This record gives sequence, structure tokens and C-alpha cells, in this order.
Amino acid sequence: MKTALALTFSILSMTVARGAEPPAWAYAIPPTPPPPPGSGANTPDTSLKHIAGTDLSFTRAQISNAFGPADWFPGDHPPMPDIVAHGRRPEVRACALCHYPNGKGRSENAGIADLPVAYFVQQMEDFKNGLRASADARKANTQVMIAIAKAMTDTEIKAAAEYYSEIKWTPWIKVVEAKTVPKTRNQGGLLLALPGDEKEPLGNRILETPVDAEQTEILRNPRSGFIAYVPPGSIKKGEALVTKGEGKTVACATCHGADLKGMGPVPGIAGRSPSYMVRQMYDMQQDTRKGPWTSLMKPVVAKLSNDDMLVIAAYLASR
Ligand code: HEC
Ligand code: HEC
Repeated sequence: MKTALALTFSILSMTVARGAEPPAWAYAIPPTPPPPPGSGANTPDTSLKHIAGTDLSFTRAQISNAFGPADWFPGDHPPMPDIVAHGRRPEVRACALCHYPNGKGRSENAGIADLPVAYFVQQMEDFKNGLRASADARKANTQVMIAIAKAMTDTEIKAAAEYYSEIKWTPWIKVVEAKTVPKTRNQGGLLLALPGDEKEPLGNRILETPVDAEQTEILRNPRSGFIAYVPPGSIKKGEALVTKGEGKTVACATCHGADLKGMGPVPGIAGRSPSYMVRQMYDMQQDTRKGPWTSLMKPVVAKLSNDDMLVIAAYLASR
């Protein structure tokens, strides 16, 4: 009896406890459900907003309109297909809302510029077919992404994939090794520096935060990037794992290309959001991301600890 119980228990823990708890910093689940975009203030702010480098101006409601968000810099990107600029009611919110017209995206979603068309289409299929979900079921915007993919036609998916694949990925995240970092608050999964100059220890995490909280959160300025604070020494440790594998993983360049900017249908992983990268590695390890192509990544992530993922992401973001 005792041994049967012990056996059941060990089998259970084998299937349940696949590695560590999710790295909380990468998922950045907000403490309370985030208010829907645009519903921020009690008295709506209807003033026209401006940003440097453009004569265009928009209200906050226009900036975060889920079916036609502001396009501050139309000259920065090719003409957007309708599905990217406006989406399609009721389910398909405009891709440009979360991923921006230039595809840079933000730490709480994903950068989707410069992804190979075949990869992009495959991901949409995986979201549709229940093969790609977040390992943290509370990650609400990934659920929205899944609903969007489910509602899209093949033609719409192709148009969006072709559009974003034409835009080159350029550096947009500055990686800084630091022991102390600005204190932040979690606004819908985005970590925003508090006003004032309060600092706190970074500890064993990456803090990815907008260079300018207002430009990113309020104005959704697609030219205003991010800073990733990473623990001292992590870039070098990550380099060893990425380039040599060190018996824990497989050298990434074999599939992601010598410069890690992608090769054939395999996506680029250099210079992209470290929080996003860690979420994906963890999701794949936990088997909540399990599309037909994910099997190639299984041996890569199988033995990685959360700390390994952290240093890998620090190095990748710095490339
Ligand atoms: C409400 C915000 C939101 C909107 C609108 C949105 N997405 Fe996403 N998207 C996300 C999130 C969140 C993720 C996944 C992040 C995660 O799980 O870590 C994602 C991921 C993706 C990915 C995977 C990227 C990769 O590198 O594998 C693709 C492709 C994508 N979205 C395409 C689109 C397209 C096309 C549209 C418009 C039809 C769209 N998204 C609209 C939030 C959004
Ligand atoms: C054997 C080939 C192979 C190797 C080696 C490999 N990858 Fe991948 N990687 C892929 C493929 C294929 C995908 C797409 C997986 C899918 O569709 O789910 C991918 C996807 C990813 C993604 C998700 C990208 C996104 O936009 O969502 C990350 C992150 C990633 N790889 C990191 C790494 C790292 C880090 C290494 C090295 C430590 C590595 N990979 C080594 C083949 C590989």
C-alpha cells in the first residue's frame, strides 16, 4: 500500500513537475486584470497628443483604438494591409495595436517584424489549433492572440505575414548589466518606471522596461524602445551557452543562422525582447507551445534551468 502510494506520487510528480515554476519576471502577470486599452482615466482625456518627429496628432482613444490605432509614422513602413491597420470586427483586433505598425511589438507581446512568412503562418496555425498557449494561463493577452488567430482567414494571415516579413528588424532594446534598477509598476504586463528616481536591487531577473514610460504606454510611440537590465556577468554566461551549448543545449547558430537573425524558415532571435524569448523557451519546455516545428527546439530547451534561459536571453537581446 505504502509503496503503491509512493509510486503513484512519484509518477504524478514526474508528470506534473516539469522543471521549475514559471520565471515570474518574464510573464509579468499584472496584479489585477488590466483595464481595456483606452479606458484608463475616469474623466477621459480627449486632448490631442503629439510626439517628436511627426506633425500628426491623436487623442488617447485614437491611439489605442483596437480597430484602427494611431499610425504616427506612415513613412516608416510599407502600406499596411487592412487587416494589420484595422483588423476585422468583432474578434480580429488590428495587429498594429499591440505589435505596432512597424512590427517592433513590446515586452508583453512579441516583435513580429522580419519573421519568415512560412514561420509566421505556422505560428498562426499553431495558435488556431491549440498548439500554442502560454504556460501561465493568466497571461490574458496571449489568449486574445489565440482568439484573433482563430477568427482569421488564410488570406488575412498571408497578408499580415507578408507585410511584417518585409520590415527589417533593427536594434531597439538596449541591454545594460546592472545591480540596481528603477522601481517599476506593472501596467497590463508592461513594467513602467515609477515617477521619481527610486531604485531597487535587480536580483536574479531581467527587467525590461520602456526607455520612456509615457512614450510607450500612453502614446504608443513605435520609435521609443526598451532597456533590458540584466544581472552583471549574464551576457558572457549566455554567450557560452548560445555559441557552444556547454552540454546543456545545442548551439543556436546551427538553425537560427550564424548571426542569429534567422535562416530560411527559422526565425531570428537576436535583438528581440528577452522577456518574450524566455516565455517561449519556457512554454516549449512545458509543452504548452508544441507546434509541428517545435520538436526541433525540444532538445534545445529540455535541460535548461530558468537561470540558463535568463542568461541566454540576456546575450540574445544584446546581439
Ligand atoms: C491584444 C494584443 C495583440 C493583438 C491585437 C495582436 N497580437 Fe499577435 N501576439 C500577442 C501576444 C500577447 C503574443 C504572444 C506573446 C507570448 O505568449 O509571449 C503574440 C504573438 C504573435 C505572433 C508570434 C510571434 C513569434 O515570434 O512567434 C504572431 C505571428 C502574431 N502575434 C501575429 C499577429 C497578427 C497577424 C495580428 C493581427 C491580425 C496580431 N498578432 C494581433 C498580442 C497581440
Ligand atoms: C535544430 C534546430 C534549432 C536549434 C539548434 C535551435 N533552434 Fe530555436 N527554433 C527552431 C525552430 C524550428 C523554431 C520554431 C519553433 C516553432 O515553430 O514552434 C525555433 C524557435 C525558437 C524560439 C521562438 C522564437 C519566436 O519568435 O517565438 C526561440 C526563443 C528559440 N528558438 C531559441 C533558441 C535558442 C536560444 C537556441 C540555442 C540555445 C536555439 N533556439 C536553437 C530551431 C532550432
